Amino acid sequence: MKTSFLLLAWLSCGLLLPSAVGAQTKPLTMEEMHKLHQDSKAYIAMLEDPARDAYQKPHDVIMALGLKDGERIADIGAGAGYFTLRFAQHVGHGIVYGVDISPDMILHLNQRVRDAGLDNVRTILAPPDDPLLGDRAVDRFFICETWHHIENHARYLALMKKMLRPGGQVVIIDFPDKATPVGPPMEMRLSRESVIHEFEQSGFTLAKEHTFLPYQYFLVFTVAGSPRQTSR
Ligand SMILES: C[S@@+](CC[C@H](N)C(=O)[O-])C[C@H]1O[C@@H](n2cnc3c(N)ncnc32)[C@H](O)[C@@H]1O
Repeated sequence: MKTSFLLLAWLSCGLLLPSAVGAQTKPLTMEEMHKLHQDSKAYIAMLEDPARDAYQKPHDVIMALGLKDGERIADIGAGAGYFTLRFAQHVGHGIVYGVDISPDMILHLNQRVRDAGLDNVRTILAPPDDPLLGDRAVDRFFICETWHHIENHARYLALMKKMLRPGGQVVIIDFPDKATPVGPPMEMRLSRESVIHEFEQSGFTLAKEHTFLPYQYFLVFTVAGSPRQTSR
């Protein structure tokens, strides 16, 4: 019973829990996965499973970002709020925008934000190709395990460029196109190199790369030629 729940949770999110590895011998089809994407309860349970912390290392990720008081950060594909709520503890009077295309995720996120009494989080139910933010609205876009879900990368990159403040960053954390004990189906994955290439094609520069995550690349881009941000 437990095993089938974990399998369902993985399928619904495109991720695989370490504890379910033994039960999963081959990836299911994309069709089956898309079908199970409809189960938001299982999706949320998986995203918020404390076991995820072992490889997602949220504290280390946040330390590496060096969030600043007053910063405005957009968490694209915020999901259940795994990073959104943590970011809220680090930006003080800034704002965390939790952006997602799923009404169920946004409802869940709204509830969590209310329960936590946070006044620096805004949630946005967005279409798949636009985070609905204003020009120069944010210091940073943070996109964890979501870039491979976004279809129109060129449009999204162009919009993010307009929405970033001078010196702003786009942070991508995602699974490589190599076998890892956790992660989405191989068909959905984007190689580190292809992500860097498309960002460079759209006028971004790889400014930094962190290598402490065991299964994911962690890339930090800035707009080419944009001044370094000194204060937020
Ligand atoms: C694998 S989950 C990752 C959630 C969160 N970033 C985390 O690390 O816990 C992917 C999320 O991206 C959302 N999503 C998918 N396509 C999206 C898009 N085009 N724009 C914004 N969110 C999207 C999904 O609804 C889902 O909540």
